Amino acid sequence: MPAGIRRPPYAVEPGSLQSALPPGDFVERMRAAGRAAREVLDEVGAAVAPGVTTDALDRIAHAAYLARGGYPSTLRYRGYPKSVCTSVNEIICHGIPDDRALMAGDIVDVDVTIYLDGVHGDCNATYAVGEVSDDDARLMSVTHESMWRGIAQVRGGAPLNAIGRAIQEHAEAHGFGVVRTFVGHGIGTEFHTPPSVPHFYDPDADQPMVAGSTFTVEPMINAGGWEVGTIWPDGWTAPTRDGSRSAQYEHTLLVTATGVEVLTAWPDEVERWLGSSTSAVS
Ligand code: MF3
Ligand code: CO
Ligand code: CO
Repeated sequence: MPAGIRRPPYAVEPGSLQSALPPGDFVERMRAAGRAAREVLDEVGAAVAPGVTTDALDRIAHAAYLARGGYPSTLRYRGYPKSVCTSVNEIICHGIPDDRALMAGDIVDVDVTIYLDGVHGDCNATYAVGEVSDDDARLMSVTHESMWRGIAQVRGGAPLNAIGRAIQEHAEAHGFGVVRTFVGHGIGTEFHTPPSVPHFYDPDADQPMVAGSTFTVEPMINAGGWEVGTIWPDGWTAPTRDGSRSAQYEHTLLVTATGVEVLTAWPDEVERWLGSSTSAVS
């Protein structure tokens, strides 16, 4: 890690999570971190191909964070050993890069988080490795659309659980299971903060979304049941209980009085999925 890279507190002093906001505008920093996270994700996603190991993806990500002056938020976060999560096929999330080569027909989620200028930006996407089955292509596209339907519910004052309601309705209409164990989260100077953002309808999560706050929406959708199986002995890797495949997409959001700014999306995506009714990154 080059000396010029600002590290989060847990990378300096294991166990310490709190970090102070450096001087300057929080929202501007979040915009910059969101954009940088997305640039890294696109760079890694473009490298996904049969024969490429997830370790190779990790190395590409690591260099891409540093090239932007950022730190890989996952590295040494609660003991996590790598710079991205790579979750292949039946792995729901938190897969650790290793020396297994991706094979045609696999699906792999790459989850990128950058710590830049004192704040975190977090996004992920699932990629097809070569040609995938029609079932897997449908799982990916329904998961992606579910995420956007959830994001479309975001607006200052709206109930937080409107997000999960929209996601669950779309995913279950296609016969898929919505993971409950892992949820979206507040994000900013710390990686994970309240609120928890369920991707299913939780009647208790009815607090109003707060304009100016930042959180993620990151649904994990299983082709089969929603249940998580036994975490691998590595302490991280989370498979589906029934062995069915799982897809995920994630964005970091800024709540506004009138809607949402999707800090990790490109303007054409925002236009496509939300139209011009809500403010976009420019
Ligand atoms: N980026 C993941 C998220 O969306 C968190 C990964 S934490 C790790 O919240 F320790 F597993 F890397
Ligand atoms: Co996240
Ligand atoms: Co993430």
